[in-house]
Amino acid sequence: MTGAPVGDLVAAAVERRTAVPSFNVIGLEHAEGIVLGASRAGIPVLLQISENAIRFHGGGMRPLIAACRELAEAAPVDIGIHLDHIEDPVLIDEGIALGSAFGIGSIMVDASTLDYADNVRTTADAVGRAHAAGLWVEAELGAIGGKDGAHAPGVRTDPAEAASFVAATGVDGLAVAVGSSHAMATRDASLDLELIAALAAAVPVPLVLHGSSGVPDDVIREAVAAGIRKINVGTALNIAYTGSVRSFLDADDRATDPRKYVAPARDAVADLVQRFCEVISPALLSRKASR
Ligand code: G3H
Ligand code: ZN
Repeated sequence: MTGAPVGDLVAAAVERRTAVPSFNVIGLEHAEGIVLGASRAGIPVLLQISENAIRFHGGGMRPLIAACRELAEAAPVDIGIHLDHIEDPVLIDEGIALGSAFGIGSIMVDASTLDYADNVRTTADAVGRAHAAGLWVEAELGAIGGKDGAHAPGVRTDPAEAASFVAATGVDGLAVAVGSSHAMATRDASLDLELIAALAAAVPVPLVLHGSSGVPDDVIREAVAAGIRKINVGTALNIAYTGSVRSFLDADDRATDPRKYVAPARDAVADLVQRFCEVISPALLSRKASR
């Protein structure tokens, strides 16, 4: 058995005009906290493993994916496993080679730092192979502000270009630049809601919002109403996790057993995930699908 098929989870969100909450996993405790929070909310989510997380684990993706797969299998709600912001061709190939047979549901092929023609070429090449491996594929057009400091938050995705990009590549979902910025520690980003609506009208596949940690709850709801169908959250979980660890260690400078401070940090992740789920996708309240 594997993680839930991501295409099915996104299709359900499209049908109910809501979005799939998608959370970045760094280690086992993040994954446990995310699954716990989603289970309490009763809402399907994605566990996202980024290229940066894979590098943190020494370059190998299999152990963390295997752990996520086991957690997904045991969860009372559907949990999909997504490879996030994969730029390295070697990791794209490995993710596709492992495919749905290993429990992976989807991959974001991130060629957004390349020029348009190379982005199309790289993405289209991966899409055919990923589909053959049973994967739903996300790509990005118009680099989302803030990532590695390489792009200004003012970047925007053009609707006509986005429609052409989807037609030329065959991707299943598109990450768009609409005002959010990666790694924000404050929740005060404003989104271009009219652009989201224009993109949703022009693009025949679900739209993905990145950098959602910095977006206030009411703006997340408005983004979903305007047509966003997958919402990525990472930094906010790390703020909650690290804040919990910091306050524990500040109060006890003799602590040595990591379980003492990691357990409340994992709970802090679970609490925040539950809240995000309830904000992002109340319409997805559901039991686990049989598969
Ligand atoms: O792909 C991951 C997300 O875009 C996470 O962004 O860390 O700013 O929430 P964030
Ligand atoms: Zn992102």
